[in-house]
Amino acid sequence: MIHAYRGSVLHFHDDPAFAGETAHSWHADGLLIVEDGRVRAAGDYAQLAATLPPDAQVTDHSGKLILPGFIDTHVHYPQTDMIASPAPGLLPWLETYTFPTESRFRDPEHAGEVARFFLDELARSGTTTAMVYCTVHPESVDAFFAESSARNLRMVAGKVLMDRNCPDFLRDTAESGARDSEALIGRWHGRGRQMYALTPRFAPTSTEEQLGLTGELARAYPDTFIQSHVAENTDEIAWVKSLYPSARSYLDVYDRYGLLRERAMYAHCIYLDETDRARMAETGAAAALCPTSNLFLGSGLFDFAAADAVKMPLSMATDVGGGTSFSMLKTMNELYKVARMGGTYLPALRMFYLATLGGARSMGLEGVIGSFAPGAEADFVVINPQATEMLARRSARAESLEEQLFALALLGDDRAVAATYSAGKLQYFSSKTAT
Ligand code: GUN
Ligand code: ZN
Repeated sequence: MIHAYRGSVLHFHDDPAFAGETAHSWHADGLLIVEDGRVRAAGDYAQLAATLPPDAQVTDHSGKLILPGFIDTHVHYPQTDMIASPAPGLLPWLETYTFPTESRFRDPEHAGEVARFFLDELARSGTTTAMVYCTVHPESVDAFFAESSARNLRMVAGKVLMDRNCPDFLRDTAESGARDSEALIGRWHGRGRQMYALTPRFAPTSTEEQLGLTGELARAYPDTFIQSHVAENTDEIAWVKSLYPSARSYLDVYDRYGLLRERAMYAHCIYLDETDRARMAETGAAAALCPTSNLFLGSGLFDFAAADAVKMPLSMATDVGGGTSFSMLKTMNELYKVARMGGTYLPALRMFYLATLGGARSMGLEGVIGSFAPGAEADFVVINPQATEMLARRSARAESLEEQLFALALLGDDRAVAATYSAGKLQYFSSKTAT
């Protein structure tokens, strides 16, 4: 069955920072054609409409933008209920709110209930893929994937590995963590659209033995993902230095255990040095930029110029519950300001690239998600530039695509999401939208 969607179609082929105008395709009156959950074609309505078979269904989203679904490359589903919990910094925030909240995910019913709300919220925000932390409990992973696979979403998730410097009730062991991770890979990795991420929380909460076993699993299962945190906060960095005195840097701890490779995603990357950045670029490990979290927790500002100098793979993330919104549009707003403070001007086109194809590339999933390349999975979002009075007023005065996107990035949030589709199936539809 063929289903086509008419609207203003935008997607990317490359990073606008390096490829300029050839990086994106824009069809003001465009058509996205979907067949069996995959993209068949995307282009001008005038050209493509004639190729539709007579029984094709056409949904008219004229006046709205149709983009690949947003990709949030770092988010903690168990922290949904503690979003907006203030603390003087990362480490006290973990102790005071995070660990007690995560302890409840031993209960599969609780985990399932939060997973359902979390996935609803992603859909309301236009996010179709996320790299998700569960908790130390394998039950929290089963609950998440059960819900995600029932909705046929392309999701990556993993059990947190944490065998020291945390409360007893959240602690695994190097052995049990590896055993549980391997069993979860067997149960979920590659089952439908679900994919597994080895998830050592961060260097301070893993022993060397645990990081070693994680590195072995990463080698044994090269198409799984790896996710962790690095160089987020100055107190955290001092702690890592005391725990791993012989490591050259915080990032080097992960490097020593073979945890820098393609499909490895490191959140924050604020306090890296030149050698670290070069290692990330060389190994294909990617950075998840989490501006709402970094500003909320007072962690610091990501250095765009230094990252671009070595073409470090970059992606965008909310980091809820350290992050303060599930909306990738709100995340763009804060990313823009973080870049600005560091002397970098971030065009809107690049922000939309980072939230779509940039995420897919960072995850080694180009061609699968993040663009409308033929054959790609039909995960897409419909954005309404008239969603609020203010957006409508500003959009009416936009004189270019860049101005329109910039207004959406700076003024938009979940209210701008008119509809979200995964594998061609409607996941969310704003009651304010007429179809
Ligand atoms: N570092 C270790 N754990 C966490 C977490 O849950 N959130 C953030 N932002 N940083 C971390
Ligand atoms: Zn995080």
